[in-house]
Amino acid sequence: MMDIINKVVNEKLVKVIMSNGTYKEFHKVVMRPIMIKNKHMYQFEMFTKTQAFHQNVDDKQAKELVLEIMESMKQMDAFMIDEVKTIKRTKKGKIMEHSHKQINKKAEVTHNRQKQYILQEGIVIPAFVDLGIMNQDGTIIKAKYDKFKQINRFIEMVDDVLQGENRKHLNIIDFGCGKSYLTFILYYYLVEIRKMSVNIVGLDLKKEVIKNCNAIKDRYGYENLSFELGDIHGYQPNFEVDMVISLHACDVATDFALANAIQWKSKYILSVPCCQKEVNRTIKEEYNPILNYGLLKERYSALVTDTIRSQVLEACGYQVQVLEFVDMMHSPKNILLRCRLQEAKQVQLSAEFKGWLASMHLQPTLLKELTRMGLYEEL
Ligand SMILES: C[S@@+](CC[C@H](N)C(=O)[O-])C[C@H]1O[C@@H](n2cnc3c(N)ncnc32)[C@H](O)[C@@H]1O
Repeated sequence: MMDIINKVVNEKLVKVIMSNGTYKEFHKVVMRPIMIKNKHMYQFEMFTKTQAFHQNVDDKQAKELVLEIMESMKQMDAFMIDEVKTIKRTKKGKIMEHSHKQINKKAEVTHNRQKQYILQEGIVIPAFVDLGIMNQDGTIIKAKYDKFKQINRFIEMVDDVLQGENRKHLNIIDFGCGKSYLTFILYYYLVEIRKMSVNIVGLDLKKEVIKNCNAIKDRYGYENLSFELGDIHGYQPNFEVDMVISLHACDVATDFALANAIQWKSKYILSVPCCQKEVNRTIKEEYNPILNYGLLKERYSALVTDTIRSQVLEACGYQVQVLEFVDMMHSPKNILLRCRLQEAKQVQLSAEFKGWLASMHLQPTLLKELTRMGLYEEL
């Protein structure tokens, strides 16, 4: 078998598929050449019924691993640039080899995914394994890959906003933290990678997730990370807040998060809204044919919501950037408001803006909340 493997694992290889058997819990394994940090490696993608696991190895290890896998699998199809070799092991253990000419195109071998993210796949972070994002070998669980991308992007956005700020300490609240992938990764990033001192609180209404997140952070001694059960609406921290983040906090929960941040004069706000039902539910206009079509109305309402929030934040002294968060194909909820406080101001909205709100018959929760807080008077 090693002779065959030597004929296959070389520069002509496009990919190898090993099948017809079970290696550990995997029913199929695909191996491809891959470039990582300018080094030729091989990536093994191993499939269970529901998941794929990745492992990157060098040339020698690749040959050994193929040999090991082929002790359990009966078939190997090796796609070379100019032929396909099929190797079968019969019931009696005899090796049959067959090949036919076929042009196979080499895929882009650069491991782009590793290049573009702040947090790299392959580095084992035990807390992430417990959270169910990562496998024991540091690969990302396939079903969580989109979330991993989103969170990496969010971290990039945080990283960007901190550039040139020379901050040594940050107090952060993650509103609507849910399972808290973002909260944990942000903590890990700031403490372990940026070597900052932080105090991070994740807040959510769900008892079970808060209990689980506290258990995980205790297990790994993440001392300055804590999770609290509670409502964003009316939440009062017992420390000064430097950064408020919220990722997909449902509907007006995002408005409560923004209003809190404004009230506390939080220096930074990063917020990706979720469903924006309030405007969709309440908007009325004299004449606007967009509102006749459910899907268009929903998208239009989302844009109106983001515009209202951005304008109000600006009126409170924030510099607001409206940024594309991730590709539409990964999540339709892809707008991030990134805000930095320039100079806190009493909310003053222009007559034009108020007229625009009135023309849509809107009384946004964000303004109602600022009124309740005594920061805005004219609703
Ligand atoms: C879609 S999940 C997002 C979770 C997490 N941020 C993420 O992106 O994976 C929204 C979370 O917001 C929480 N939430 C909604 N309204 C809330 C409120 N008023 N106070 C606290 N948490 C709230 C929900 O319980 C839920 O866990």
